[in-house]
Amino acid sequence: MRVETVLLKDYTTLGVGGPAKLWTVETPEDLKRATEAPYRILGNGSNLLVSDQGVKERVIRLGGVFQTYDLRGWVGAGALLPLLVKEAAEAGLSGLEGLLGIPAQVGGAVKMNAGTRFGEMADALEAVEVFHGGRFEVFRPEELGFGYRTSRLPEGGIVTRVRLRLKERPKEEIQRRLQEVDQARKGQPKKKSAGCAFKNPPGQSAGRLIDQLGLKGLRVGGAMVSLEHGNFIVNLGNARFEEVMALVRRIQEEVPLELEWEVWA
Ligand code: FAD
Ligand code: EPU
Repeated sequence: MRVETVLLKDYTTLGVGGPAKLWTVETPEDLKRATEAPYRILGNGSNLLVSDQGVKERVIRLGGVFQTYDLRGWVGAGALLPLLVKEAAEAGLSGLEGLLGIPAQVGGAVKMNAGTRFGEMADALEAVEVFHGGRFEVFRPEELGFGYRTSRLPEGGIVTRVRLRLKERPKEEIQRRLQEVDQARKGQPKKKSAGCAFKNPPGQSAGRLIDQLGLKGLRVGGAMVSLEHGNFIVNLGNARFEEVMALVRRIQEEVPLELEWEVWA
């Protein structure tokens, strides 16, 4: 196990966030020790907006055994989803195509029920192992209250590994589906972001609403509403937490949207 002081801006895709003690756990024993005091769990940091003051709790990251995977067996929650999408396609295993382009770890994707209109993480799960209250417990997906970008894990629960629901399909068919998802994502920005900032209201697109209000390009310091997609807030360089929050509030003054990001402050 490694414990070090880091800046969370280096561990989040938006590139915002101050200091924290990072506990990289490599074994179940490490995890038990690391969770003996208040903690937060970090995945790939792709849905987080973190305060410049950092956080006082331990920040736990899954390394070692939690990153190993077998697509036909247990998949560690610390494994990177983009890698699994690619390897499943190469192996002729279908079920993850809709998750193409989501820069998550498996655990973060389960927690957020990450997805696109082509499919969600919950659809691809057969079983989920969660560490909570000092023990490991396996759940069926129906027990975890999955909804649009939400789940109900046990209090303080850490997803440690999952079994995927994949089926053998011709590789060309999988490739066709991946191309379709890739095409749908073409309008999303490449600059530093944490994905869509707001949830879509039922039947609507937050990005389109923000666009229609003429808010693309609106800027507070280093934070800007993407010119490519209205629901992405991009970090132009050295955006501060308060600048990003000010931009979020400015948008919410115009249209009452619910934040999709998780704020660590
Ligand atoms: P983090 O951002 O690190 O954490 C998110 C939450 O999950 C936190 O509450 C954290 O505590 C919790 N968590 C992390 N790991 C675990 C674990 N092992 N056990 C329990 N809880 C855990 N999202 C979509 O849904 N669809 C998209 O199409 C999409 N596109 C994106 C494109 C870009 C360019 C970016 C930057 C982001 C995008 N996102 C998208 C957002 C983001 O990738 C997802 O929300 C993803 O699920 C976050 O996973 P993560 O591993 O990065 O989690
Ligand atoms: N649109 C605009 N202007 C914009 C953005 C979008 O007019 O600035 C229009 C598009 O032209 C399209 C419609 O709005 O007709 C929907 O846009 P898009 O296809 O980009 O989908 P979205 O609803 O904005 C959702 C998810 C994305 C996911 C895509 C692809 C949410 C909040 N967003 O975006 O997920 O990648 O679909 O399926 O559910 C995320 O959750 O972080 C995320 C990026």
